[in-house]
Amino acid sequence: MGGYKEYKIGVIMFLLIFGIAVFMTIGVGGVYLASVPATQLALEKQVMYGTSAWSVRDPLMKGWNTPQIEKRGKMIPNPVGVGKKIFIREGCWHCHTLLPEQSADWEYFGAPPLAGDFVGEAPTVVGSDRKAPDLMHVGSRMPSIPWHLQHHKDPRSVAPKSIMQSFDFLSTDELKSLAAYMVSLK
Ligand code: HEC
Repeated sequence: MGGYKEYKIGVIMFLLIFGIAVFMTIGVGGVYLASVPATQLALEKQVMYGTSAWSVRDPLMKGWNTPQIEKRGKMIPNPVGVGKKIFIREGCWHCHTLLPEQSADWEYFGAPPLAGDFVGEAPTVVGSDRKAPDLMHVGSRMPSIPWHLQHHKDPRSVAPKSIMQSFDFLSTDELKSLAAYMVSLK
C-alpha cells in the first residue's frame, strides 16, 4: 500500500520534473535568445516602433511614446509605430497572425521570420489563433494606402464576405497610421 514515503517520492519527482521544465524553458531559452544577433529587420523595427508599447507616458496606447520622425518640418511620432500600437490596442491579433506557418502557407503568405527579427521588439504581434489571412507580408500583396483605409472603414465594401468588423470609429489619423503599418509589413 502506498505510504508516506511513496507520497514524498512522488512530490520530489513532481518538483524535479517541473523544475527541469522551467529551467529548460526560461533558463536555456533565455540564454539561447540572448545569443541571437539582431537582423537588419529587427534594427529597422526598433527605429520604427520603439522598444515598448505600454508605458505610463501612453496609457491609451495612442503611440505617443513612439520614436519621432520629421514631417513637413514638424516632429511627429512615426505613423508606422503608432499603427502597430493601434493594431495591439484594437485586438487585430485576435484574428490575424504575423507568422506564416511551416506549410503550403509560405507559398501564399511569404517566408516566415527569423528568430533574430524579434530582437528588442516588445511585444511582438505574431498572434496565436488565425481566423483571417496572415499579415506578415501584407504590404507586398496590398501596397495601396487608400485600399487599407477603405477596408478598415468598411471591410465588406471591398471584400463582400468578410467577417472583419468596421473600424470607422477610429480617427482619420489613427486609420492612416494603421494603413502605414500595414503597408510597411513586407
Ligand atoms: C473578427 C476577426 C478580424 C479582426 C478582429 C480583424 N480582422 Fe482583418 N480580416 C479578417 C478577415 C476574415 C479578413 C479576410 C477578408 C477581408 O479581406 O476582409 C481580413 C482581412 C484583412 C486584411 C487584408 C489581408 C489580405 O491578405 O487580404 C488586412 C490588411 C486586415 N484584415 C487588417 C486588419 C486590422 C488592421 C485589424 C485591426 C484594426 C483587423 N484586420 C482586425 C478578420 C478580422
